[in-house]
Amino acid sequence: MSETFTKSMARNIYFGGSLFFILLFIGLTVDTTNRMPKQDHRENLTAQVALGKHLWDVNNCVGCHTIIGEGAYFAPELGNVYKRRGGAFIKAWIKSQPTGAPGRRQMPQFNFSDEELDAMVAFLKWTSEVDTNNWPPNIEG
Ligand code: HEC
Repeated sequence: MSETFTKSMARNIYFGGSLFFILLFIGLTVDTTNRMPKQDHRENLTAQVALGKHLWDVNNCVGCHTIIGEGAYFAPELGNVYKRRGGAFIKAWIKSQPTGAPGRRQMPQFNFSDEELDAMVAFLKWTSEVDTNNWPPNIEG
């Protein structure tokens, strides 16, 4: 083995290392992309779920809440709220806002129709069934 560390050795380590990690990155990206259709169960996307998502967007729920970790930290995570509370609670909760409970953060009244409330629940149910590799680890979100 040579005693000296030559320029060409340094170059080989640089290019070899870069190539190795580029290939690793591409491999992991392909693997994730292949898994996604199974994890997000897109085959269960109904018109009702899409309406719920639309209501979620236009009413800026994400301005206060997180959903699967994305959003604002003012109010609870809602990605798993369906598993935590169930559909009946969610409807009753949204209908009865604001609570006016002293010292608690408040959520506005959105005046949703029954159809819109059902769509919101359908969207939150669909979201709770996305395979998130068990995130968040805590049922309280
Ligand atoms: C202005 C901020 C704000 C907005 C916007 C908002 N929320 Fe909330 N929401 C809150 C707060 C604060 C709480 C928790 C209140 C408490 O615990 O007393 C909450 C709680 C909830 C809960 C109950 C969570 C639980 O774990 O029991 C649900 C469901 C919910 N919100 C749904 C929605 C939906 C759906 C929208 C959009 C249509 C929305 N929120 C928009 C502030 C907001």
